[in-house]
Amino acid sequence: MKNIKAIIFDAYGTLFDVNSAAEKCKDKIGDKWEGFANYWRTTQLEYTWLRSLMKRHEDFWQVTEDSLDKSMKAYEIDSSMRNELLDLYKILSPFKEVPEVLKSLKEKNYKLAILSNGTPALLNQLVKSNNLDNLFDDLFSIEEVGIYKPDSKVYDMPIKKYQIQKNEIVFLSANTWDVSGGGNYGYNSIWLNRGNNIFDNLDYKPRHIIKDLSELVDLF
Ligand code: LAC
Repeated sequence: MKNIKAIIFDAYGTLFDVNSAAEKCKDKIGDKWEGFANYWRTTQLEYTWLRSLMKRHEDFWQVTEDSLDKSMKAYEIDSSMRNELLDLYKILSPFKEVPEVLKSLKEKNYKLAILSNGTPALLNQLVKSNNLDNLFDDLFSIEEVGIYKPDSKVYDMPIKKYQIQKNEIVFLSANTWDVSGGGNYGYNSIWLNRGNNIFDNLDYKPRHIIKDLSELVDLF
């Protein structure tokens, strides 16, 4: 990990637990909360890819609402839960090691940024509600380029802003397809594999695989 100038993080699923909204409602949703949360997330991502391919962009909040509506129907969740789930999605919890790891990397003087499908307003609210806002140099949102990951215009944003080379960036994501997207673009991509999952066959193998973000502190 030589010559690295910036460490860029995916947001949803990497720093913030996308299942935490449904988990906080598990008393009301019951045992199916986890299946429902996974279905919501999968549908949300499918909608980002499909909208990019169809060239019919709507922002991530719209996609999150649309995918929630389908998922609530599929899992027969009472419609009274809709607003509560959406409010909780705006303030998703970070994974527990995240604040300490970010503080420690910040002290080492790397540029730290988020690069996410989320809108600027969503990303701001996420970091502020979790007291992480002073740790990032930038919150790059795909709204600036109007197309979702893994379009290369998304991964271009930090390169243009920091005037650095692709291989001077380390990109962290728990989403395998995003690791491949950033890696094929030219980043050093690290896969955060929290759940013993299987990597994709998409022309890129991660530079490193870690199980927990705290392993980053030793890598740098
Ligand atoms: C993001 C999604 C992909 O934050 O997790 O961009």
